[in-house]
Amino acid sequence: MIELRSDTFTLPTPEMMAAIADAPLGDDVYGEDPTALRLERMAADMLNKPAACFMPSGTMANLASIMAHCPRGTKALVSGQSDIYIYEAGGASICGGVIYEPVPTQSDGSLALTDLARAIEEDTNDPQFARARLICLELPHNRCGGSVFSLSYLQQVRGFADKKRLAIHLDGARLFNAAIALGVEAAEIVRYANSVQFCLSKGLSAPIGSIVAGSESFVADVRRLRKMLGGGMRQAGIIAAAGIVALERMVSRLAEDHRRARWLAEGLSAIPGLKLETPGTMTNSVLFRVEDERYSWETFIAALHGKGVRISELGYGRLRAVTHAGITDEDIRKTLRVMTELLCGDPVGNKLAYAAKDHNEELR
Ligand SMILES: Cc1ncc(COP(=O)(O)O)c(C=O)c1O
Repeated sequence: MIELRSDTFTLPTPEMMAAIADAPLGDDVYGEDPTALRLERMAADMLNKPAACFMPSGTMANLASIMAHCPRGTKALVSGQSDIYIYEAGGASICGGVIYEPVPTQSDGSLALTDLARAIEEDTNDPQFARARLICLELPHNRCGGSVFSLSYLQQVRGFADKKRLAIHLDGARLFNAAIALGVEAAEIVRYANSVQFCLSKGLSAPIGSIVAGSESFVADVRRLRKMLGGGMRQAGIIAAAGIVALERMVSRLAEDHRRARWLAEGLSAIPGLKLETPGTMTNSVLFRVEDERYSWETFIAALHGKGVRISELGYGRLRAVTHAGITDEDIRKTLRVMTELLCGDPVGNKLAYAAKDHNEELR
């Protein structure tokens, strides 16, 4: 099976499994797991931030970060298409009493400064209004097809945030993909943010875990919130060991995923009935639509699945294929071949597609 649904399907590498087996361990709630401490130091140094905290997931990393920035009853400005707003079960609102203020999302995942200004224009000393404390940015932006905005944009948001006394949290689940796409070190990106979270468990192939980085006092708050949220881990070195290998060995190879994603995108756009939707600078994700009356997005996914290729849907019927360490050149070749067969008249492919369509119609 060619698994293009997400880079979260990556499996730990043999080197990670060996590191897991050999990891020196302690109780991390006591601050005594040497492997978790090593990972945190390594991550903080890579990002040029004073401190870092190892988290069980990107969701908890974002949640604890938002709660650390925002007292109860204050607002966090978020992209209305962000993972934080759409896919994280409203955690900061439920656990932290924080109000999400969704802001329109530009095609590159950025939030226009005029929209940010509008979102806080009522934010005066008038006691009727909740005060905003935080801007959350997502880079690369998942629902914008893994697209990346520029460093100069980040610099402008920093200037705006400073003027309005707002903090910036960066959801950089795939931060190193963004760094490679922009041709800079990750530290160059996160210098504009007060805090950042990135995931070890996506394109970097570690099985579990994320990092939050920021100032010493911010990270101390996040660590307390992690415990409060139930994320204090004991022998955390078991998973941190894989995270260390991820940072040492898996970052630069992300460029290969980007090359394959570009190849896939170019191939797709040449197939009649497929329309590319990925705008701007790309990372490892390809967004597209099927525009062929024989298929709905559901039946196209089902037909591809029947031929050994898995892709997903990412809202509004858009299809998504994500490249990662488990995808080879041959997989891209085969994916394009299968899509061509399904859309350009291969009888076996079409029969399968029609069967899938009928099946789906019966289900409705
Ligand atoms: C942009 C972004 N942020 C946060 C997350 C949440 O990470 P996790 O699945 O580790 O909770 C994801 C997961 O896909 C994501 O894509």
